[in-house]
Amino acid sequence: MPILTKTPPMGWNSWNTFGDNINEELVKGVADAFITHGLKEAGYEYIVIDDCWSEKSRDNNGRLLPDKNKFPSGMKSLSDYIHSKGLKFGIYSCVGTHTCAGFPGSFEHEFIDAVTFAEWGVDYLKYDYCYKPRFVAGEDLYRRMALALRNCGRDIVLSACNWGNDGVQKWIRGSGAHLYRSYGDIHDNWKSIETIMLTQLENACYGGIDCWNDMDMLVVGMGGKGDNEMVTSTGCSDTEYRSHFAIWAMMNSPLMLGCDVRNMTDETKAIITNKDVIAINQDEEGRGPYCIRQWNNLDNVFSLVKPLSGGDYAIAMINISDIKSEMSLQFYDMGLPALSGMGLEFYDCDKHENIGLFVERASIYIEPHECRIFRCKVKPV
Ligand code: GLA
Repeated sequence: MPILTKTPPMGWNSWNTFGDNINEELVKGVADAFITHGLKEAGYEYIVIDDCWSEKSRDNNGRLLPDKNKFPSGMKSLSDYIHSKGLKFGIYSCVGTHTCAGFPGSFEHEFIDAVTFAEWGVDYLKYDYCYKPRFVAGEDLYRRMALALRNCGRDIVLSACNWGNDGVQKWIRGSGAHLYRSYGDIHDNWKSIETIMLTQLENACYGGIDCWNDMDMLVVGMGGKGDNEMVTSTGCSDTEYRSHFAIWAMMNSPLMLGCDVRNMTDETKAIITNKDVIAINQDEEGRGPYCIRQWNNLDNVFSLVKPLSGGDYAIAMINISDIKSEMSLQFYDMGLPALSGMGLEFYDCDKHENIGLFVERASIYIEPHECRIFRCKVKPV
């Protein structure tokens, strides 16, 4: 099988904003928006229909059927449309007897479902964890679907979604899955973003080429709106959404948009198409970051440092407190002593400009809930 996810997948998923309110017009509209709003050009590729797309029962041959009211033209026709735009098509199922919303799951139907998905032109399968028989190991169920997909005649990305349960990061790569959800569902508020980030700092070492840590679909741009009350919430400020995007990028999480990309503000568009931030996420070495905390404010302020191909370093400085706070990154802590005669030139990935050559340390004040993200070059002083 070729490497399907050399870098974290980028795309859109229907769940965060639309929940069960999905249909073929919406999905086609999203594909159109990928072109007209420059999302395809920025690297977004997959359009994924989440839960609630099927009929409540299989047909007489045990095959899944698309909901005839939501998807009257069928899935093949929809995937043809998406492919005609140069994009890829994703769908959703579950290791259990039912999906989380109570539609048929793939338990004991893995092989027939894999073939059905291949016939429909599916390129990506999100595979959830609800209604799992309690005494069957999840590990076996992901192995089984991975094997079925690897032998269905089509290259299909397997996006595991067991919310970080059962020590998934330790066994998922061996199953053949290409990404794995590492925590519970995101909500459209800052607390949720912060919680997911803090739980994953220690897991940055468990992602890499062809098996990425998926911190969940993005809520950037949702702005408190949407039809899915399991995700919609207060919304975030633009600063918080910018931080959310930068943190997911630094952590090598897939960048799966969750807002209504057909109707975005200019600020949302600017955040999700930021080339400098996306380049950090899509760096070909795929190394996860390490964390250096501010020595006198350990719980609130820290830097993530990620080595990039070609010798550069991505550095993100994050302040989760409610007051403006200093981050002094001592270069010694990242392997650069002052006596080397070298410093770091900081390029600000949001302002798109160099902010200076720093020696020995960079002391920067970070606003509440802000993440400053830089691309740094090692240079002689
Ligand atoms: C779970 C997943 C979500 C979404 C829903 C759909 O909660 O974690 O991302 O797929 O199921 O029901």
